[in-house]
Amino acid sequence: MNKHKKTLITAALPYANGQIHVGHLAGAYLPADIYHRYLKSTGQDSLFICGSDEYGIAITIKAEEAKRSPKQQVDHFHEINRSLFMRMGIEFSHYSRTTLDHHAKRTQEIFLEHLKNGWIEKKTIHQLYSPVEGRFLADRYVVGTCPKCGYVAARGDECTKCGASFEATDLINPVSKMSLSPLELKETEHYFFRFDLFKDQLKTWLETRHFKPSTMNFSRQYIEDLKPRCITRDLDWGVPLPLPNTKGKVLYVWYDAPIGYISATYDKDPDLVASYWLDPKTRYVQFVGKDNTTFHSVLFPAMIMGQDTSYKLVDDLVVNEFLNLKGEKFSKSSGNSLDLESMLKWISPDQLRFYLSLIAPEHQDCDFSFEDLVVRVNAELVGKVGNYIHRTLSFIHTRIGHVPHQGNLNEDDHQFLLELDRLLQDGAKAYEGFSIKKGAEVLLEIAQLSNRYFDHQKPWALVKELADRKRLETVLWCCIKAVKATLIQMGPLMPFSTSIAWSYLGIDTIPKRNEGMDSPVLAIRPPVPLFHKLEPLAKETNVSNLNETAQLTPATASSVTAPAQKSLIEFSDFEKVDLRVADVLMCELVPKSDRLLQFTLDVAGERRIILSGIRQFVQDHASLVGKKVAIVANLKPRKMMGIESHGMILSVLEGEKFELLSFAHAPSGGKIS
Ligand code: 2FM
Ligand code: ZN
Repeated sequence: MNKHKKTLITAALPYANGQIHVGHLAGAYLPADIYHRYLKSTGQDSLFICGSDEYGIAITIKAEEAKRSPKQQVDHFHEINRSLFMRMGIEFSHYSRTTLDHHAKRTQEIFLEHLKNGWIEKKTIHQLYSPVEGRFLADRYVVGTCPKCGYVAARGDECTKCGASFEATDLINPVSKMSLSPLELKETEHYFFRFDLFKDQLKTWLETRHFKPSTMNFSRQYIEDLKPRCITRDLDWGVPLPLPNTKGKVLYVWYDAPIGYISATYDKDPDLVASYWLDPKTRYVQFVGKDNTTFHSVLFPAMIMGQDTSYKLVDDLVVNEFLNLKGEKFSKSSGNSLDLESMLKWISPDQLRFYLSLIAPEHQDCDFSFEDLVVRVNAELVGKVGNYIHRTLSFIHTRIGHVPHQGNLNEDDHQFLLELDRLLQDGAKAYEGFSIKKGAEVLLEIAQLSNRYFDHQKPWALVKELADRKRLETVLWCCIKAVKATLIQMGPLMPFSTSIAWSYLGIDTIPKRNEGMDSPVLAIRPPVPLFHKLEPLAKETNVSNLNETAQLTPATASSVTAPAQKSLIEFSDFEKVDLRVADVLMCELVPKSDRLLQFTLDVAGERRIILSGIRQFVQDHASLVGKKVAIVANLKPRKMMGIESHGMILSVLEGEKFELLSFAHAPSGGKIS
């Protein structure tokens, strides 16, 4: 049992620039919520803090693309995400946002303390400036060629191809992501946090932690190579620098965001800062995806060490790997994502929580698959857990109609009850060790054991014999114990169904974990099955807007088009056409045209622009980024709306049905023949 009295839990603040998806849930929020719910079920005090990360370039770029102001953008997605979390049963103690005034105030206070303590220094540096746009462009506003691998569409902060991270000024041939115009270096003053000065302190501190080996090793290496980092940006969206003559400069989002954990706690109740953040006895647990590791294991700790208040440093950093879709990272911009909103029309939040727990990417990246989801929900959740609870309660309700009485327990019963206790201990250990996967597996073991007991004791046979009445009551009494054990383990995983199921036992206030087995059953109310079987997606009509559906639905006859009708050509004619695979780097609307989309493509390292008149058929043009499309590469250049187009993108348009010709793995520049 966890000996700490108070636990502070935080989960990485998601950017309010798009909807959260199942990858986010599996990586941070679901494990954090399950842990929080588990702690509450044991009667411990715990505070679960999160909120929207609303500053930085991640926001402004998306806002510009969506033609919204950054404020409109974050207002929009803060609300959407808050409500999606709620629908998924992610129950924060508080969900705040970093655009609140007091967050800026706290961040500025900490900045001034860092400055006073000598951890921040000012430097004049060269940054990329766009003469066309009249502004400095940082990080993701810049694209260019990766200095490490030569990928032509590397972002200003990292190369999405080889994973290298660097400064935008390291890119070869940097251009503006927005206007594709060339950039030049211009002098500007910036502030650097001297993370390098914390090397020894961090090293010593890290060795007192018990993060998992991959996190420890990664962080050790990172500390070895610690450098000062620029913590300001020339931008007008962020926490302003609290210094004279710094108009137009804001703090870097990764400087203010983790401070958001503290300011969000203030936002809920300033007393909670004292009772959680400032009490050394508090245990502080952070949940993050692996791409956020260094900010939590090294950089934020250094920031805490460098200021004047004794805020808690993280005790347990729970880093999860990625949940992928079709082997690739979830990414809305490249169309490899699942819309949570649509999914929730098809599957209940608890069913989704169950599946995400079973496949949780705790030690390695895992793949989300609809086929697997349907199989496991139907076979394991409905077939084992739901089935056990329902068969027991409906049997008791219809056959004896009252709460069963305990008689003499035989060896089988004793064994069964002991086993249940043992499994509940395993279940507690799983949650305490932050493993929701193990937590779900233990739930299945409890259900399996209970089904076996039910089958073996055959209450349906006992019910027929008057002489067996006592034995029947005792067996069913044991079965009710097993229902309770199931619900105890199920509570943190599937909160919605669990509270319904307790009410079938006449228990309306969910008991604490260690009281659940003995809490008096007051009635056996007529149960309704807790979970329904999922139809395989192909047959399911109300999820037709899931972007995966197309792949699971076999082609129907109606989609077959009329035969080709053009006259025959020689092979040599066909050979004149240079058909190639191209990677879509950008896809933008062409101003003043309601027909054209402007594609920026990578064709074997060469960057080219192609205009395509398909705007009316494409619902979300940004979702085409990352696709591999087929192009005619040797078409004569043609000017449209003042822009030169160098080729043609191939697609199929049949009636209302439109689809770009695309590939899954073909290399960019590959010849199509
Ligand atoms: O990667 C992200 O989504 C970031 N918004 C996480 C921030 S975590 C914290 F430090 F706020
Ligand atoms: Zn690279």
